[in-house]
Amino acid sequence: MCGIVGYVGLNEAEPILLDGLAKLEYRGYDSAGIAVHSGQKINIVKSKGKLAELQKKLSQNELKGTLGIGHTRWATHGAPSDINSHPHASNNCKIAVVHNGIIENYLSIKEELTESSFTSDTDTEVIAHLINKFYTKATIENLLDAVYAAIDKMRGTYALAIICSDFPDKLIAVKKDNPLVIGVGKNENFIASDITAIINYTRDAYLLDDGEVALIDAKNIKIFDKDKTLVSKKIFKIDWDIESAEKGGYDFFMLKEIFEQPKVINDFLSINLYDENFLHKINLETLENFTRIYIVGCGTAYHASLIGARLLSKLPNIFVSAEMASEFRYNEPLIDEKTLLIVISQSGETADTLAALRMAKEKNARVLSIVNVVGSSIARESDNVIYITAGPEISVASTKAFSLQVMALYVLVCNLYKVCKVISTEKFLQLQNELQRIPSLVTEILDRENEIKIMAEKYLSCKNVFYIGRGLDYFIAREGSLKLKEIAYLYSQAYAAGELKHGPIALIDDSILIVGVITQKNIVEKTLSNLKECKSRHGKIFIVTTENNSDIKNVADDSFIIPQISQIFAPLLANISLQLFAYYIAKGLGYDIDKPRNLAKSVTVE
Ligand code: F6R
Repeated sequence: MCGIVGYVGLNEAEPILLDGLAKLEYRGYDSAGIAVHSGQKINIVKSKGKLAELQKKLSQNELKGTLGIGHTRWATHGAPSDINSHPHASNNCKIAVVHNGIIENYLSIKEELTESSFTSDTDTEVIAHLINKFYTKATIENLLDAVYAAIDKMRGTYALAIICSDFPDKLIAVKKDNPLVIGVGKNENFIASDITAIINYTRDAYLLDDGEVALIDAKNIKIFDKDKTLVSKKIFKIDWDIESAEKGGYDFFMLKEIFEQPKVINDFLSINLYDENFLHKINLETLENFTRIYIVGCGTAYHASLIGARLLSKLPNIFVSAEMASEFRYNEPLIDEKTLLIVISQSGETADTLAALRMAKEKNARVLSIVNVVGSSIARESDNVIYITAGPEISVASTKAFSLQVMALYVLVCNLYKVCKVISTEKFLQLQNELQRIPSLVTEILDRENEIKIMAEKYLSCKNVFYIGRGLDYFIAREGSLKLKEIAYLYSQAYAAGELKHGPIALIDDSILIVGVITQKNIVEKTLSNLKECKSRHGKIFIVTTENNSDIKNVADDSFIIPQISQIFAPLLANISLQLFAYYIAKGLGYDIDKPRNLAKSVTVE
């Protein structure tokens, strides 16, 4: 999704902006641009396409100056083009703006701005014209008033970076429903939509809250609330290391992140697994006050939610349901003060998930979130947070975050099983020991990477792939299928294995690969029999399973046997092999795995 960087200081802005934009590439974008204040005026260079295109233009037209803003755009209003790229400026080029989000009423604002002439199809351009309309006197107070007057008129979501030609040393930042951080340096300050853009320069940041406006120069940062009152904020210390945002010898971030899993799972467990206060810390020592638990997320996070809900549904006297955040909001769910909403999100900024959280809070539900990005909107607005401590996940396709979301749910579920007496203390200890084994079992699977690579390479010509499973395995089938769609652009669909006969089996022929996930003992034969039905229709069969038996081998063209573990934890292991499978198919097909087409890392618009 779109990315913002801004710089004000003593150094040349252009290289810093380009470096920040390069760090934001992973979020997905289709064009980029920067605006730099030369001391006299604002100069803008922008281009459709990747950053290299922008750099090519800049090599012929270097922008000199120590104040600037930059943007990577992911098209919403208007196709990717040079003209639609940000920054956008007012006609007199006094005001330049970059924007993440959507201005819902931009058309009606455009109609009101009768004196402006518009060059782009974007909603963002109206912001520059609107601020310019209200900006009547070259004073910083008047400029701030103009920004407030403009945002008062705007409906929608926005993170904005604004510069004005009358102020060669001032940067303005505005936040509503889209993340924006201010990086605090020495004689220089930064803004960014994502801390990865600035961790090369500073570890101190202010996290802007909704409605806040910041006035920033090289030495000072003033933050005002929605009523223009100065607020004082605490510095947020960024503890992510720079290496974790670099590829470190791997061809793609996705592979690096897959291989980080033993370590990050181990780190998570060392903080949480044996913590006797785990439930106390999230204010959940008892579930007596709750009648309903919803678990919500989008995409991969929704798949983790499905696993969590299936496991939590064993708790007595409580209704548990996993819901897609994008649907949840519109389904009129029953929510009251006896509802616990568990929100799952890697970025902590996904628009639909955040909206589900806000709706639940309005109805007095308690919100517990499972989040990666510390200080993100979802983390800040939740009553309690479990941080999954994955470090930055740069690859658009989520891998380590999913495993840690599931790990967080496992630890939560085991603790709740214990307090709700679903299991004995003895069983609890046994499950803890099993969880402790997971990092080394993940390593065992990763050590067999080559086996999966060879299998994946056999299926490069498949155009259609079904993933099937039952129970928890079905949720992993969905996650495996999503990964393949995202990075290998193959048509792939996950089915609950028992549903095949009710329609989809009509599609099976020798052009289709069926990936079967079989880790749950009670359904081995059932899923296997569905796979046999596919085989007899000439489908190709790849099975990921805990079962090492001749029946499986007879049915499968290829199989991957994962290590033995308690069966509620086995789906996580099966998923690691499916991550590698999708990766090697995408690699074999020659795709840019970390930046899949049409996708964005953090989906901050609905
Ligand atoms: C899949 C993927 C997406 C995200 C989804 C939610 O690989 O990355 O499906 O899982 O957009 O994002 P977060 O977890 O940031 O809320």
